[in-house]
Amino acid sequence: MSETEGWRHYPLEAEAFWVREAEAAMAAIGEEALERTMLGVAELSDLFTTERPEKRFPDYFADPKLLAAYGVFFLPQSFIRTSLALDQACRLRQWRPASSTPSILDLGAGPGSCGVAAAYRLKSLGFSALGLTGVDKSPSALVAMEVFAHEVLGDGVGVRSRVGDIARPETWPEGQYDLIVAGFVLNEMPLLDQDGLLKWVELVRRRLCPGGMLLILEPALKITAEKLQRLSDVCAGTGLIKRIAPDLDQLPDPQLSSGEHWSHEARPWQAPASTEFVNRRLHRDLREVRFCFAAFSDAALPALPTGLSRLVSDVQIIKGLLRFITIRTGCLEAVEIPTRGLSKHEVKKLAASFGRGDVIRHEHPPSPRLRLIDYRDFKVFWTADKGLPESNLNETAI
Ligand SMILES: C[S@@+](CC[C@H](N)C(=O)[O-])C[C@H]1O[C@@H](n2cnc3c(N)ncnc32)[C@H](O)[C@@H]1O
Repeated sequence: MSETEGWRHYPLEAEAFWVREAEAAMAAIGEEALERTMLGVAELSDLFTTERPEKRFPDYFADPKLLAAYGVFFLPQSFIRTSLALDQACRLRQWRPASSTPSILDLGAGPGSCGVAAAYRLKSLGFSALGLTGVDKSPSALVAMEVFAHEVLGDGVGVRSRVGDIARPETWPEGQYDLIVAGFVLNEMPLLDQDGLLKWVELVRRRLCPGGMLLILEPALKITAEKLQRLSDVCAGTGLIKRIAPDLDQLPDPQLSSGEHWSHEARPWQAPASTEFVNRRLHRDLREVRFCFAAFSDAALPALPTGLSRLVSDVQIIKGLLRFITIRTGCLEAVEIPTRGLSKHEVKKLAASFGRGDVIRHEHPPSPRLRLIDYRDFKVFWTADKGLPESNLNETAI
């Protein structure tokens, strides 16, 4: 079993904490409390999508009902998105904090979704003592973050928070950090343009310990994903800081020039029962967590083999073929894999063995459209949260 297997599972104690918070905020018990939470989720959902303010977001966490609604519905998704991004950095790229007692800074921490997830996963890698610092403009979110972190992480994790501005490092607690995570916050700072973001990365970089990692997560919307990708490409291209995920190299993302598709992750997960319950009448698609991310670190990490391809589309099953799109060495490739000789069941199993964001390997010469001779001509090199497939070493396992 891989070290990081199970990173798409949301801890039961985290779910129980937010159900209790919802009960307190809604002055009701169990399903009745969750029923009342729905309104808050719908209000937040509109704020994050159709009713996004052009300049400044309100402090929605000042309202205990909205805070609880966030904790039940959005927080588990941010928790798992952070876990999956870290999974790629820790397993595919083999990043580890250099300190034996890693320190995490969660910028735009809100109630702690990303920072608590990061500490929880690093604990599972054997780092029993950690420091977690949250910074946010919302004091009420930070109070919740501290209690939530203690509840889920237990002793051994020192938790503190500071009301501050993400754009102004002088408002953050002093010191350097092994991991700095900025989860779903940059999109709430629309006045930060590309130049401003680059300067911000430069400032954040100075607050990283040697070998530390900056992890930025953003919604999978075209506008937010493209903005992050542009930033990531400039950081990588100028050498400001090395990009370690999800892109496999420092080359620009070719999808940005066509503007038709944009890099984002879409990973299946099992939403907690309370989140599903709240969703009964909201009908959001909870089968997958969607997000985009960029991870940067100047740590000396083992080099990846050359010529790997990263999937930037879903895997389509069509008659006699699997079809998907990859980026290999900075170029888009539409790949077809013949499935001749396989039963329907085997084709489904093969298609389910990898997906968007995963990394494959084959020897076909570079080409915008290519068809492999046989399904055995490619290997799944890396797939999220499932352990390195044996096919990485031998045959494609079906
Ligand atoms: C969508 S929430 C994300 C919370 C958490 N990181 C997550 O992923 O679930 C955005 C957070 O960023 C905070 N925020 C927005 N702009 C900020 C700023 N300029 N400085 C500090 N915090 C900010 C908000 O108060 C809110 O807690």
